[in-house]
Amino acid sequence: MVFKLTSVLALVAALAVTGNAQRQIQGITFAWNPDTPNGSHNLPKNALAMAPISDLNSKAFTCRTNGLNFPNIKSYSSTGGEMFIVAWDMNALNSTDGPKLNGPCNHWMASTAAGTDNLKWFRIGEVGYSAEEGWCTDKIRREGQLVVSMPNDLLPGEYIFRNEVIDLTYAGKTYTDDPTMGAQFYADCLKYTYSGGKNPKEVTTGLVSLPGAYLATDKGLLLNLTADGKPPGGKYTVPGPALHKQPNPGSA
Ligand SMILES: *[C@@H]1O[C@H](CO)[C@@H](O)[C@H](O)[C@H]1NC(C)=O
Ligand SMILES: *[C@@H]1O[C@H](CO)[C@@H](O)[C@H](O)[C@H]1NC(C)=O
Ligand SMILES: *[C@@H]1O[C@H](CO)[C@@H](O)[C@H](O)[C@H]1NC(C)=O
Repeated sequence: MVFKLTSVLALVAALAVTGNAQRQIQGITFAWNPDTPNGSHNLPKNALAMAPISDLNSKAFTCRTNGLNFPNIKSYSSTGGEMFIVAWDMNALNSTDGPKLNGPCNHWMASTAAGTDNLKWFRIGEVGYSAEEGWCTDKIRREGQLVVSMPNDLLPGEYIFRNEVIDLTYAGKTYTDDPTMGAQFYADCLKYTYSGGKNPKEVTTGLVSLPGAYLATDKGLLLNLTADGKPPGGKYTVPGPALHKQPNPGSA
């Protein structure tokens, strides 16, 4: 069965905060299964934060929530190998009201088998920059969505899926050096049930804490984009630990 999870990051308005403009992007607002497209589970409005997080040590860094009390929407089951669709509101990202978001995206997962106090996250996907396609944020502007392949080698259980857009517009200085600056993280999380992949085994590598996985001085987080929003030298490496490798990507 093909299972799709759609999250809409609705970009609502631009606002100026302490001298630094930031977009307000609301997080995952619904998810749907193409077999029952009207079986959407809408999260309560205002359930998730809108503003990005620049403080890499903030507790809210993980899911833009106070702790991990993010909405626990109905469980979505996955057997692995499916393609998730993570969608954003293109109109909102296309808004010319305020500076354009430019940056990469990361997709993460964490098992809640040992509780949610000390989650260990692994990275299952990324979209960075290429000369042809531009940034992840350009791709979202064009297509309104990203396709994420669900690993097919996880142990059954409950997981948290986290998607993250990183805006590098203000990344020329660290937030610590200048609290009006720093890479801005728009991350949102939701829980779902993974009912078992093809080659289930415990994930033991590439596990990190959030906050904790990033350093303010990471090359991919401390850089001045060019005047037209490109990475210096036209090259960019998405920050984060090594991507989770699965034996048979894309096969269920
Ligand atoms: C879903 O709801 C919309 C709006 O009510 C309706 O137009 C559409 O036909 C429905 N789709 C399905 C598959 O039921
Ligand atoms: C957003 O802008 C891009 C590039 O200008 C364009 O290709 C795309 O169709 C626009 N999307 C919407 C929803 O307006
Ligand atoms: C970005 O540019 C500013 C202003 O020129 C400069 O102060 C800062 O050190 C630069 N940052 C990096 C990472 O090169």
